[in-house]
This record gives sequence, structure tokens and C-alpha cells, in this order.
Amino acid sequence: MHTDVVRQGRLRGDRDGSIEDLLSSMTADREIAEADIEVDIAHLLMLVSCGILTSDHASPLIRELLFYYKNGVPKEAFHPRFEDIHAGIESLLIEKVGMDTGGRMHAGRSRNDEVATCLRIKTREILLDQIEALIDLRTVLVDTASEHVHSIMPGFTHLQHAQPTTLAHYLLAYEEVFSRDNERLYQAFLRTNRSPLGAAAFATTGFPIDRGYTARLLGFESISCNTMDAVASRDFAAESLAAATILMTHISRLCEELVIWSTSFVRFVDLDDRYCSTSSIMPQKKNPDVAEILRSRAGSVLGALVSAVSIEKSLPLSYNRDLQELSPHLFREIIPVSRDIRLVSGMIASAGFHTDRMREEAERGFSTATDLADHLVVNYGLAFRAAHNIVGRAIRSGSLSLEALDDASCQLTGRKLSEQGLSGDELSRVLEVNQSVAARRHPGGPAPAAVLDAVLHRKSVIGKDTAMIQEQKERIMVAKEELMDTAERMVGS
Ligand code: ARG
Repeated sequence: MHTDVVRQGRLRGDRDGSIEDLLSSMTADREIAEADIEVDIAHLLMLVSCGILTSDHASPLIRELLFYYKNGVPKEAFHPRFEDIHAGIESLLIEKVGMDTGGRMHAGRSRNDEVATCLRIKTREILLDQIEALIDLRTVLVDTASEHVHSIMPGFTHLQHAQPTTLAHYLLAYEEVFSRDNERLYQAFLRTNRSPLGAAAFATTGFPIDRGYTARLLGFESISCNTMDAVASRDFAAESLAAATILMTHISRLCEELVIWSTSFVRFVDLDDRYCSTSSIMPQKKNPDVAEILRSRAGSVLGALVSAVSIEKSLPLSYNRDLQELSPHLFREIIPVSRDIRLVSGMIASAGFHTDRMREEAERGFSTATDLADHLVVNYGLAFRAAHNIVGRAIRSGSLSLEALDDASCQLTGRKLSEQGLSGDELSRVLEVNQSVAARRHPGGPAPAAVLDAVLHRKSVIGKDTAMIQEQKERIMVAKEELMDTAERMVGS
């Protein structure tokens, strides 16, 4: 049975299962085990390069760590007898190579900076994966939009038919939403990508370490400078969860619409069977379960955010063990987000949109009444409010016929619009949905010309975002390769 080498100096007595259970962070530590190997290797390389450790002492440790890296951390390292994976790995190493060598690894650091570094390595990787998934989703939205530039659909406010728009305009709205989520995730990534290593317990160390070197070896952009802050702060976790919560809120809204759109009374969309379930009793049922679960996920992610900030609030500087309780909330909720995003992409890409139904609904509910009011302003000299009133009164009477408009206009101005030249043909033209959409060609509007401009613009934004994220991924990948190559060279394999 391996003993916990961290505990054995100062403390005595076996702990019973419930204490071990409470104190151990092993469940969440499974997520950072690989990062911990990288951190151990980087720390050892730095100790050697700074003359704190000989390569004779470092090599057996690095050799063992490289073995873990290739074959996975041995499962004994995860036993709850160790408070965490850091103690587990160190204990196993000491057992393997002896105290005189293994016991040298932890010089000049603490588990406090070690865990903060591991958490940041794992979190930045998750953030980059989320951003990649989001870029794919945005691409699906733009591509689908470009197929539906002329697909007229009703736009809603208050979930009431409002004005005609196009499916392309709707899809591009979500692309812009997700592009802001992309920015938020990227900002969270930039602030996460700073190395706490070398902060030690909180006051750094008297050993002549090199924080910049370990930061570079681990592919960080810079160090998280103040050493108290470096071990005490988890705002990178809160920020990542906040960005995920906002993103999942958007996914929830989109999924809510897919649920509504797939009802038989709306029937705007047919979701692919893969994304649906049936009923165990009602054989006819096709339920949009994936969209429903995704709609609910925003609540779970928000729960994790609330837990994280509630745990961090009121903690005095610097490290407190409470912080350990935060990590499971972080990973539990940010890890599945990339999967969620990819499911939305698949659902949209495979959906069948009923553009005939959309068009039918776009013509309902006097959806072009605003066009008529505007027309009366431009061509008949009315104030907008007067025109709004005339059209509103006519609708109240049940129709937008020339007679109804004449009646309303007589009541309000004492004059009939037909006497001023308004004809039935002109009225039909103004109320026609295609012209209504075509007229709205300001930047960001639904007119086909504006939408085609937007498609081009969004594609170029997506292109830039892709390049940025590929560069960051590449940097981290290269650093990891170099770290392992340097380690291999030291052990001479
Ligand atoms: N498992 C701990 C955590 O997640 C690692 C740091 C332990 N530090 C300590 N002083 N006990 O926070």
C-alpha cells in the first residue's frame, strides 16, 4: 500500500473513509492528471536548467513521468488515500525511484501553484475546443443562410406575427450571437493562458527558479505575475463558466424555437430522426428531445457558475482548500459544452425547413401593415402617427381594403385616401411580402442584397477567427512537443 508522502511528516493516524472522501479531489483530478505530468516535467527541466537539481537526479523521474505520459497515470495514483493527484503521483515516483531522487521533485513549488497551473492547462484546452466547435456552428449557420436568402418567413415580436423576414436573416442573427460568444470564450482563453507556476505556496521561493521558462515550456502566453493572486484566484474558471452560461443561454433560445417550429401547428421544421425520440406508449410520436435537453443545459451550466462564484466569494488571500471544491463544478459543466455546440450544428445542418409553411405564415396577421403606414407617409404626406392610426383602425375593422382605409382616414382626417389617388393595385403592391423584405436593405436587414453582403462579411469574420484559433492551438501543440522532446533528450532516449 502506497503511503501519502505529503502527509507522513507532520501528521499521524489513519483517517477513516469519510474524511478521506471529503478531502480527496480525485474525481475532478482525473481531468488534470495529464496536465500534472506536463507540469512535473516542466518543473524538473527548469530545476535542472537553473542548477537546482542535477540531471542525474531529474532523469529517473522524467523517465517515469514520460512513461505515465505515454501509458496513462497508474490507477494507484488516484486512490483517495492521497488527497489529490499531485500527492498521488509524487508518492508513486518516490516509491519507484527512492526518496533521495524522488523526494527532490517538489523543491521550489507547492501544490497550490501546481493545481492552479493544471487547471489552467485543462481549461484553456477546453476553451479552444469550444471555440472550434462554435466556428463550425457559425459556418453551418452561414451556409444554411446562403441557401435561404429568398425563403420568406414571418418575424415575431412577443411571439406574435410581426413583419416578414427571411430564414437567412434569422440564421444570420444567431451567427452574430455565436460570434460574440466566440469573442467571450477567446477573452476567457487569453486570461486563462497565464502560468501560476513558481508562485509556490503564495510567496514564491528562495530557490533560483525561472518562472518564464516553465511558462514557455507549458505553452503559456505569460506568467500570472503576483504570486498571491496566482494561487488564490479562480476567476479564469468563473469567467469560463460565465461565457459558457451565456453561450448555453443562446443555445437554449435557439432550441426553444426548434421545439416550437417542429410542433404540428407551426411546422416550420422537420428535425432529423437522429435528434428525436418517440414515446413508449404513443406510437405516432416524434419528440424533439435533443433540442429539449440542450434547452435545459443552460440551467446546469448556470448552476455551476453560481457554485463557483459562491465558493470563491469571501475567501481570504491566498490559497484556501475551499478552492478544491470549485474544480468539479467547472469541469462537470464546461467539458460537455463542445458536444452541445456540435449537436446544434448537426441538428441545423440536417433539418428540413418547410419554406412553404413559412411563406404562408409570413402573409398572415397583416404583417406588412408597417409598409402601408410608411407608404402613406412617403406618398400622401401624412405624419407617421396619423398613418399608423389609419392603418390600425382599418385592421380593427377587420380588413386592409381600400374601403376600410378610406373609412379610417375619413374619421381621422376628413378625407378619403382614394380621393388622393390611392388605388387597389397600389395597395396590393405595398402589402406584398416580397417587396416588404426587399425594401429593408440597410446593413443587417433582411433584403436579399443586404443578406448576401452579410454572408460575405460573416464568412470573412469566421475566416479570421479560424486563423486566430488555429494559431493558438498550434502554439500550445508545438510547446507540448518541445517539452516532451526536451524531456526525452534529457533521459537520453
Ligand atoms: N487538491 C488541491 C486543490 O484542488 C490541491 C492543492 C492542495 N493544497 C493544499 N495546501 N492542501 O486545490
